[in-house]
Amino acid sequence: KFLRNDEVTQECQALLSTLPKEKTRLMTLYKYQGFWYNALWLEGVLECQPHFQAQDTDILLATTPKSGTTWLKALMFTLVNRKDCPIITEDHPLVTTNPQDLVPNLEFDLYANNQVPDLASFASPRLFSTHLPFTSLPKSVHESACKLVYLCRDPKDVFVSLWHFSNKLRPQNLDIIAFEETFHKYCKGVSFYGPFWDHILGYWNESLRNPEKMLFLKYEDMKEQPRLHLRRLAQFMHCPFSAKEETEGVVDEILRLCSFGNLRNLEVNKDGKLSSGFENSAFFRRGEVGDWKNYLTAEMGDQLDEIIEEKKKRHGVGQ
Ligand code: A3P
Repeated sequence: KFLRNDEVTQECQALLSTLPKEKTRLMTLYKYQGFWYNALWLEGVLECQPHFQAQDTDILLATTPKSGTTWLKALMFTLVNRKDCPIITEDHPLVTTNPQDLVPNLEFDLYANNQVPDLASFASPRLFSTHLPFTSLPKSVHESACKLVYLCRDPKDVFVSLWHFSNKLRPQNLDIIAFEETFHKYCKGVSFYGPFWDHILGYWNESLRNPEKMLFLKYEDMKEQPRLHLRRLAQFMHCPFSAKEETEGVVDEILRLCSFGNLRNLEVNKDGKLSSGFENSAFFRRGEVGDWKNYLTAEMGDQLDEIIEEKKKRHGVGQ
């Protein structure tokens, strides 16, 4: 269903016919409010933009696909629920449920298939995720005091991760998705929720304007100094570690529970499926920094770096 265009609402069909489109091997992408979507996700975007009512206590995780969303979802869920769900137990929710399902995505879980979800049963603080760019977030997110966490990852690694993921999604009868052609489109900004540079810059600028509301994290920093950034995240989410928790080593326990090695080896993530039908295992590949070097040439790497540098310069952004 994810790859089909003909099952979306008439309202969405009508909009699609007016939008710029690009065909990729896997699907047609449509440009809406400056960013590229497939038809099904766009339908969810159109539903959630007017209907999602953010509460002041909500916390929203925003990413581009393949930036490490699964990891951050696991960490944020565990942080917020650590009083009710002790970390070292066999029955922690992460043992039986993929993080993607513990922190639902607005546009392709909650508001997908033309549904308006009942969010009243969610305990506060409610955790949600989205891949929407900053400028396309539902109005209530901007107007409420809800918090935003953005996770950014080196676009070179994101591209490689995305290419692998797209190949997993492809129907059996479709040839492997051409690497160079997909790379070329990515550099033009044509990818899920691309252009990646506008996505990153939108949230980066907001994190400078409004640091109380928005925390900007980097996958590579999280890998290098996980304790530091987990503490920052907990502080930002209004659930800082107590002195007792620090002494008891709760920071390390959370990092271990949510680590790539631990999550990937859980039965649920080897064999299970998400409520949306994706295989859980597709969200755990290598989980490393710099894997792009095994797939991109040095020139391709430079090309992506130059795009980022040029956009940063144009927008007056420092390091
Ligand atoms: P790779 O394909 O480079 O391995 P998303 O969750 O946004 O879809 O991103 C998926 C990427 O995050 C994949 O990257 C995946 O392996 C990695 N990942 C998943 N869980 C992780 C974890 N606990 N720690 C670090 N990386 C993780």
